[in-house]
Amino acid sequence: MVTVPLSVTNIHIKIILMIKAITGTKDILPAEISKWQYLENLLRNIFENFNYREIRTPVFEETALFARSIGEETDIVSKEMYTFKDRSETSITLRPENTAGVVRAFIEQSLGAQQPLNKLYYIGAMFRQERPQAGRLRQFHQFGAEALGSTSPLLDAEMIQIAYYILKNLGLRNLVVKINSLGIPEVRENYKNVLRDYLKDKKDKLSEDSRKRFDTNILRIFDSKIEVDQQIMKDAPLLIDYLDEQSKNDFDVVKSYLTKVDIPFEVDPALVRGLDYYTKTTFEIVSGSVGSQSALCGGGRYDLLVEELGGKPTPGVGFAAGMERILLACENEKSLQLPEDSIDVYLVRIENGLELDVAEIASKLRREDLQCDYDYLNRSVKAQMREANKYNAKFVVFVGGDEYKRGELSVKNLSNGDQQLIKFDDTAALKQLINN
Ligand code: HAM
Repeated sequence: MVTVPLSVTNIHIKIILMIKAITGTKDILPAEISKWQYLENLLRNIFENFNYREIRTPVFEETALFARSIGEETDIVSKEMYTFKDRSETSITLRPENTAGVVRAFIEQSLGAQQPLNKLYYIGAMFRQERPQAGRLRQFHQFGAEALGSTSPLLDAEMIQIAYYILKNLGLRNLVVKINSLGIPEVRENYKNVLRDYLKDKKDKLSEDSRKRFDTNILRIFDSKIEVDQQIMKDAPLLIDYLDEQSKNDFDVVKSYLTKVDIPFEVDPALVRGLDYYTKTTFEIVSGSVGSQSALCGGGRYDLLVEELGGKPTPGVGFAAGMERILLACENEKSLQLPEDSIDVYLVRIENGLELDVAEIASKLRREDLQCDYDYLNRSVKAQMREANKYNAKFVVFVGGDEYKRGELSVKNLSNGDQQLIKFDDTAALKQLINN
């Protein structure tokens, strides 16, 4: 073998490193888009049946907004936010959730002055720098709702009902609705002391994380998945036994409403949620079909948040649901049977030189609101037919030959093979044929 020293050759090896998507982000490709569009249409429909209106807020906000609302000591704020300084040295954060953004918009745009109750919904990308795994991404999508302006527990239950209807309408079966009440802040502070007392002499046995939480966010110890922590927390006093009258009554209304509308639920006194803004009702809907990241949605009431962010005291309640997780559950339960993508017409050019004619016919059909396509790659008739089948065309229109010279087009129904002639410019007849 002859080896050529690189120095005496003229060969330059150019290595182009491929740029890949950021870890924890995902491309949603055309092959899977119909599931997303189906979910989006379904949820819009349901929100609109409950008279919620869509709101779209920016994907980034000042960092302080999230720190003040979600809470400095939460995992989201202390470990998971994408935060950076922009060119004017302002600290910016990609939204890890959307309650804060909606409440900021509510205050800034004086939505409360326009009507006493605002029922809002949203769909969009959120960002958290968590360890990616099935059902957990760094850019993920949520839909959610926020109702601002009423303390009525009917709205708490309505949130659960909307989320449940959406999941049920997707055909999901393996669902558990968990509800809890965190009471008003005074009650919660008082209870934290009770819990601190209970844990005082057991603190050394807790995991390192939970020992930290003992000082920073004691309620979150209930969330620990670690065996020793769970053993200790099993006998801990529960906040639900310390609730004030109002919280207790409201919680009863939530339970009665859910019973009336046939939504099965479990009271889970350990459901504390990972965000600090909650008061009274909290809830999650979990699925047994998606592995460890089982919460498909979560939410609750936050009666003090608007005030804490500088607005007039206004009660609020809401929820958000993870769309990737929901679609994963649908896939695992095979609950969505969507029709295959198709188009109405594929135009097949059977002789060269008719490219512009084909383009003209296509534009007429598209103006008639028909889904139509043709070949742009100069392919043979056989290859064009293959393409028509690939796109699941309902009809093929042949352009060319003697018929075309006579001013006619031959139209073939691909599902039964029927073929007929129509006049070249009679697009209405073609449309009728296709729509029948
Ligand atoms: P959250 O529980 O943090 O609540 O998130 C809601 C849902 O978003 C979760 O149940 C989960 O399905 C999905 N989710 C969260 N993190 C990820 C992730 N890294 N990857 C995939 N999906 C994820 C909130 O966000 C609150 N803003 C809910 C709310 C609205 N409370 C009142 N109003």
